Amino acid sequence: MKFDVLNPTRVVFGAGRLADLGALAKPYGSRALLVTGGGSVKRNGTFERAVASLNQAGVEVVECSGVEPNPKIGSVRKGIATALDEGCDLVVALGGGSVMDAAKVIAAGVLYEGDPWDMIFHGQPNPYIPFTALPLIAVPTLAATGSEMNCGAVISDPESQVKSFASTEALYPKLALLDPELTLSVPRDQTAYGIADLITHVTEGYFNSSAETPLQDRLAEGVILTAMQEGRKVLADGSDLAARAQIQWAATLALNGWVSSGNGGVGFPVHMLEHTVSAYHDITHAAGLTIINPAWMRFAAKARPAKFVQFAERIFALQAKGSDDLDCALEGIQRFEAFLTEIGCPTRFSQLGIDDQLFETYARETLRIVNDGQGRLPGLPPMSAAQIVDVLRDAS
Ligand SMILES: [Fe+2]
Repeated sequence: MKFDVLNPTRVVFGAGRLADLGALAKPYGSRALLVTGGGSVKRNGTFERAVASLNQAGVEVVECSGVEPNPKIGSVRKGIATALDEGCDLVVALGGGSVMDAAKVIAAGVLYEGDPWDMIFHGQPNPYIPFTALPLIAVPTLAATGSEMNCGAVISDPESQVKSFASTEALYPKLALLDPELTLSVPRDQTAYGIADLITHVTEGYFNSSAETPLQDRLAEGVILTAMQEGRKVLADGSDLAARAQIQWAATLALNGWVSSGNGGVGFPVHMLEHTVSAYHDITHAAGLTIINPAWMRFAAKARPAKFVQFAERIFALQAKGSDDLDCALEGIQRFEAFLTEIGCPTRFSQLGIDDQLFETYARETLRIVNDGQGRLPGLPPMSAAQIVDVLRDAS
């Protein structure tokens, strides 16, 4: 086991901690660009409370609202222009993953002279990665993407129909303010999508690792089991703050680098495929994941059943005949798919009205953005274009 892990983001966690935002922000700047989606945070009063806390601490607020789901590069450019015009020295993201991702690229873009799309990494060496950014405070209002404590940002360009990502040290938020009270008003479907997204962040590392990693495996299984158990509680009663808090921390842990450190994982194939599909159809990120992930798991289990047998045994308490018991592996995947259906997530493209017409295009476009140098999508096993199309058909 050999690894190098860095996570400089300070975490402030607790119900009601939004009130501390101003005091926490003050050391980082005095004029904040407050990035939001603009809808729910205004309706439920979160925006007003954030502004009041900032102002009370002597931090002025410049509003940057209207970041859309699957955030577009145009919104990033607009945010950068506003921050420059208004002389902002700090960025505060108040919203879900889209808002936080846009805010990250805005914070870096303010200090970058070129176009922010330069920063978006397409699986090739990128000379334009940002090395500096304005200080960023992430305040998630939804437990899902884990963006609050990592250095990734997923951005789309509708013109080229490319959805890809920036990933570099400068994009770590200085501080993640995690207040599970802010997630109490998240509707049931969005809550379920958040649970599915965080589980997928963990399964990607878990199933794409070939190393013997008992600690990492159990950390991953702990996140998955907690997300399922506490997720069911939250979906039965959205006001269950204790369960909301567990889901919030699970979402952060799922993608802050700790769970997967040292597991030698290669690739994020389900996410890479989902990004392409949502670049074409603007679907909810997690809906794409819950459709593609079980089909990908069936494909990968046939090549490497052992990890899927372990998943079946430890997550669903199934009894395998041996580590190569493919029937048991597939039964575990079926139980996982049933859980996704139970919480209201789609598991077939047809449920979203997406047919098979563009499957070859999705395969080609995904491989254009990321490949292993031999024309295959990184993962275990790596996937050819034909295998990608097979997996998509299995999910159709
Ligand atoms: Fe995700």
